[in-house]
This record gives sequence, C-alpha cells and structure tokens, in this order.
Amino acid sequence: MPDQKSKAILNDIGTEELAHLEMVGTIVHQLTKNASIEEIEKAGLGAYYTDHGVDVYPQSAAGTPFTAAYIACKGDPIANLQEDLAAEQKARATYEKLIDLCRDNPDVLDPLRYLREREVVHFQRFGEALRGVQDKLAQKKFYMNNMKNNNCDCN
Ligand SMILES: [Fe+2]
Repeated sequence: MPDQKSKAILNDIGTEELAHLEMVGTIVHQLTKNASIEEIEKAGLGAYYTDHGVDVYPQSAAGTPFTAAYIACKGDPIANLQEDLAAEQKARATYEKLIDLCRDNPDVLDPLRYLREREVVHFQRFGEALRGVQDKLAQKKFYMNNMKNNNCDCN
C-alpha cells in the first residue's frame, strides 16, 4: 500500500476478521457440541458429521474447504482494494442469508447482525482506503515499488 492510512485500515480490518472467524466458529461449536445424531441428521449435517464429527472445520455452506485461493491479491493496491470491497459485500450477503436461516434463534441472530454490520463498516473503510490510494497515486513525483529500505513511505 502506498500510504500509511491504507496500511492501518488493512491491519485493523484483517485483525477484526480473524476475531469474526473465532466468533463464527464458537457459534457453530455451541450449536453442535451437544447435538444428538438425530438432530445432526435432521439439520442436514450428516455428511459434515461423517467427515468432521462436531469439530469446527472451515468450509463453505456447500462443503468446499477454505483455502488460501480465496485470498485475492494482485500486487496492485487498486486491484487489491477492489477485491476487498467485493469480499465485504459477499460477506454481508452471506450473513444476510444466515440471518434468514436462523430467524428462530435469537441467540444466533444478534451476533450475526453484528457481524453483518461490521462488513458494512469494512466496506466503507476499504472505500476510504481506495480513495486515499488513488489520491496518493495521482500525486506528481510519487514512485512506488515493493522493495524494502527505499526512501519512500511505502514500506
Ligand atoms: Fe469484513
């Protein structure tokens, strides 16, 4: 990132996202840890149970395991921030679908609503970062590279 503010935004959001992963994992664990086999089957989790028991395993709702391939980076701050913006919208949409599915469980709804709201905030913050980076890149005599120990503020 070519400016300190965008670096700080990325660090803040990245740190918060790890905490969100922990929250979602905890919700899943609390919902499944004492579930009977009948409840697991009724919830459509038979295949999941077969592969993972009631452990928390990072995968999509369709069963695709999480991989680093989901982390988009292109080596270009504008492209990277556009990817981040899209990721936040996809996360917001996912939380909204989870909220639809969990409408009868207030203990789950509140954290999901909180997480959805944070994705909206992240989208706004990434937008701030994008505008800052675009402004920085538009300045005259601004040079950017990814080499360490140069004399610009991009490291
Ligand atoms: Fe987010």
